[in-house]
Amino acid sequence: MNRKKLFVASAVSLALISSAALAEITFRNTITGAPLDMSVAKSGGNEAVFNQFKETGKNPYNGDKEAVQKGHDLFMPACSGCHGHEAEGKLGPGLADDYWTYPSAATDQGLFEVLFGGANGMMGPQYVNLSTDEMLLIMSWIRDIYKGDPKKAKWLKK
Ligand code: HEC
Repeated sequence: MNRKKLFVASAVSLALISSAALAEITFRNTITGAPLDMSVAKSGGNEAVFNQFKETGKNPYNGDKEAVQKGHDLFMPACSGCHGHEAEGKLGPGLADDYWTYPSAATDQGLFEVLFGGANGMMGPQYVNLSTDEMLLIMSWIRDIYKGDPKKAKWLKK
């Protein structure tokens, strides 16, 4: 490849990279609607899974038994004190039924936004303690224990 061709080829691949970046979902604060600052996210775990989630808005861990188990193990110390051991609700609302204070939480994107950015009062932003991978693991457990109407399970829809 001569220099000129090389330049054109790299310009094309740069354009491809930036259009892929544009395809990423903008996550928003559940309360204010302001874009979430993802630069504060804790890395760790399987980042390829989170990168996939950023493009599709679908949690790749849903239905994955091993992930669901890990999510349960993480939920216990991080969330059960306020939401109950079976996510049945305590200080914070139940997470296994089909009533959502924030209807967006019936989608994986919306659920992630509540976790990452927090909501009102005691529901603080979880990025302080959990990596994005850990949040997706916890979310897969929450979906796994769902006891609500299957028709309202928006995260299962295409
Ligand atoms: C210190 C207590 C506390 C902790 C810890 C906590 N939450 Fe919450 N959570 C709350 C409260 C209180 C609310 C209600 C806030 C509101 O209505 O804005 C809430 C709301 C939520 C909602 C929105 C539910 C709906 O009906 O829309 C989700 C989802 C949620 N929490 C998930 C989690 C998960 C997952 C964890 C662990 C990573 C967690 N929370 C940790 C107290 C807590």
